[in-house]
Amino acid sequence: MNYKIKGVILAGGTGSRLYPLTKVTNKHLLPVYNKPMILYPLETLKSLGIDDIYIVSGGEQIADFMRFLGSGAEFSIRLTHKVQDGPKGIAHALLQAEGFVKNDEKVAVILGDNIFEKVEVPSEAFSDNNAYIYIKEVEDPERFGVVKFDENKEIIGIVEKPKEPPSKFAVTGLYIYPSDVFDFIKTLKPSQRGELEITDVNNWYLKQGRLKAIPIDSFWFDAGTFESLFKAALFIAKNNM
Ligand code: DAU
Repeated sequence: MNYKIKGVILAGGTGSRLYPLTKVTNKHLLPVYNKPMILYPLETLKSLGIDDIYIVSGGEQIADFMRFLGSGAEFSIRLTHKVQDGPKGIAHALLQAEGFVKNDEKVAVILGDNIFEKVEVPSEAFSDNNAYIYIKEVEDPERFGVVKFDENKEIIGIVEKPKEPPSKFAVTGLYIYPSDVFDFIKTLKPSQRGELEITDVNNWYLKQGRLKAIPIDSFWFDAGTFESLFKAALFIAKNNM
């Protein structure tokens, strides 16, 4: 089987960590140096050869996204806009793309505030039945989903925003899933913070022996805080990205 990979950009949520920048503007439309944030994940998916993309956003600013991105023709992609009713979590946002991804397809999911310098899809991902995460060594792992390794460097768990991180490896906001991800999300219960967690999805694939991790050496930013937004802009300005 050779899977086609479709793309989903998740651009809902509240952006509360960037308040008051996000009081009237959606986080993903804020500038990161010379472009609105949303163009970076869009270009990352395009760089992976993905041209059929769903964009999921909260109801309030969907008109702004439509006005800015339109049908996607300007970017040589096919774009479908979809609303997530309320910031109920990353996995809940992904569930809005059910029906877009057929049984013989996979989905590459990217968070709208994640900026990658360079990523690739391993060739096996087009034919196997596994999920893929991209991991990166960071100085502040407690901000992220963090990977726990055993003594053989095998992944044995992922912990969401742990106070005491089990390693320095963060799970970045790019994931590739088989189409059974949607059935699993429907069985999920909200976490303590009231969200359907993407970390629960990744741990489910891990338990089945179907989770592969790809380490990233190039730059990666989660531009969801003032500091990371500023650092991302600086990096992009210096590197002509
Ligand atoms: O950036 C990587 C990290 O992203 C991962 O390491 C974590 O495991 C993962 O939970 C996530 O953590 P964040 O705290 O950064 O997630 P945040 O709530 O900021 O949401 C990230 C993006 O997901 C946001 O830009 C838009 C989208 N989102 C989020 C929520 C909660 C939605 O589309 N809908 C939502 O309901």
